[in-house]
Amino acid sequence: MKIKVLLAGLAIATGAVWSFQASAQVKPETLVKQRQAAMALQGKYFGPIGAMVQGKVPYDAAIVTRNAGYLEVLAKMPWDGFQASTADLKETDAKPEIYKQSDKFRSESQKLETETAKLAAAARSGDQNAVKAAFGDVGQACKACHDDFRVKR
Ligand code: HEC
Repeated sequence: MKIKVLLAGLAIATGAVWSFQASAQVKPETLVKQRQAAMALQGKYFGPIGAMVQGKVPYDAAIVTRNAGYLEVLAKMPWDGFQASTADLKETDAKPEIYKQSDKFRSESQKLETETAKLAAAARSGDQNAVKAAFGDVGQACKACHDDFRVKR
């Protein structure tokens, strides 16, 4: 029994090593698709909060709290997909400046993480005015980075 547990643990440990090595070899095209997917999901969960804080649809605290929680996690996901190996691909709206001004890009991505965490906290507190203010700050963080680093279409 003990040996089985030990072997299972070993399998998990070596599996982790393999998947780490595999992720080091992810194709640039795949990195682009993944980061775009993370961005698209941010749009999906951000939009309805906006409609509610602007009074376009009735405020639903449960949906706001859920969406803000998703956003807090999604806001961490896109960044490791922005690797220099993707800079020359066509199927991306990411500007090559990302890889030349990487400190600026990193600070704008961290800003988004900070602001989405504040939005999630505001949503949990149930204070609609705080949610509204935090929503605006998240929107600013999205826009600032898109203005600097995303190609306009
Ligand atoms: C630090 C920079 C940065 C921040 C912050 C940021 N984005 Fe983006 N976003 C990008 C870049 C760069 C792209 C283009 C990615 C690509 O095409 O490879 C993008 C693309 C997108 C797309 C298009 C995805 C697709 O399907 O191609 C959506 C939607 C989007 N962002 C929504 C958001 C929302 C909503 C927020 C805020 C909650 C946000 N972004 C914050 C940099 C950022």
